Amino acid sequence: MIGIFDRLARPLFHALDPEDAHALAVKLLKFTPLPAARHDDPRLAMRALGLNFPNPVGIAAGFDKNAEVVDPLLRLGFGFVEVGTVTPLPQAGNPRPRLFRLDADEGVINRLGFNSDGADAALRRLAGRASAGGIVGVNVGANKDAPDRIADYVALIERFAAVASYVTVNISSPNTPGLRAMQQSAVLDDLLARVIDARERVAPRAGPTPVLLKIAPDLSLPDLDDVVGIARSRRVDGMIVGNTTVGRPASLRDPDAAREAGGLSGRPLSALAHRMLAETYVRVEGVFPLIGAGGIDSGPSALARIRAGASLIQLYSALVFRGLALVGAIKAELIAALERDRLESLIEFVGADAAAVTAEPWPE
Ligand SMILES: Cc1cc2nc3c(=O)[nH]c(=O)nc-3n(C[C@H](O)[C@H](O)[C@H](O)COP(=O)(O)O)c2cc1C
Repeated sequence: MIGIFDRLARPLFHALDPEDAHALAVKLLKFTPLPAARHDDPRLAMRALGLNFPNPVGIAAGFDKNAEVVDPLLRLGFGFVEVGTVTPLPQAGNPRPRLFRLDADEGVINRLGFNSDGADAALRRLAGRASAGGIVGVNVGANKDAPDRIADYVALIERFAAVASYVTVNISSPNTPGLRAMQQSAVLDDLLARVIDARERVAPRAGPTPVLLKIAPDLSLPDLDDVVGIARSRRVDGMIVGNTTVGRPASLRDPDAAREAGGLSGRPLSALAHRMLAETYVRVEGVFPLIGAGGIDSGPSALARIRAGASLIQLYSALVFRGLALVGAIKAELIAALERDRLESLIEFVGADAAAVTAEPWPE
């Protein structure tokens, strides 16, 4: 089924404007009857965030911004789905064109700017499928014109805690002016204090909802020291490393698209995201788990990311270039790696190479 989908639909997608192709992919997923996911090999199971993930391969925020295709994505074999970014009120995002494929680089640049149907719509959809199970994280962000951005995050935690397996506080998208400044110490400390407080307040009725922080890969190491210190002192449950980069590696082969403003993802982000994950891992000292994202595009790169410190990984851009078969290929490589090393659980790999990665020369 996935093979047919990849062979027929991908050439068509690549002939379309990237944003139209994405809208078509969501529609196809919504209306194509997909068989239930096959049970994963138990050796792929990962216990993290107080949750039992059937496998560690998730789909990153931004693909299903409005929680329209959660169950189809789970049926495709993802171990978890992160919907969003959801903003409190609906907003249109930036003017089009705002999504660009860098075909020669297997990269993507987006400046979507949190286009969102808003919290009511996402909440309605998630509540409607709540009994279907599966691990569904909700990534939340502030409206562009919010008078008090922290209040937006607090309101979203309160609203989504009951239907979310975890909530991600996204302060790392480059396309909402000033958003990433919330990674700065005093603001971040206040934000996390209020968000965790909101989580505690609703816990009696919503249950314990892990709160994750998603960071930019562009933080300097001193800033990363501060961010991890605050995340630890405010007792967040995990971090996602990370979002798209505003950097443009000199190696990019598509110079026109590379000049577009926005966040770069996919293969050109891989080396930086890998390094920042390892840098975060050594600072977190096992206090909470990390989700690795950024340019993971193969079984070996997924395994390497786990070895650099990720308990879980997320994909997005590589699905555009490699197709949905990538999910199964990654799972097969992880099983093969366990067999090669005669191990029973992926947990043995987590962070095994983190210290070594931090000793390498800084990636270009
Ligand atoms: C088109 C597009 C839209 C995205 N939208 C969001 C978003 O709404 N919220 C978010 O936290 N990350 C968003 N991201 C970032 C991804 O979740 C991910 O962190 C990043 O793309 C790196 O992974 P990748 O290289 O596998 O794509 C988006 C990425 C892309 C390509």
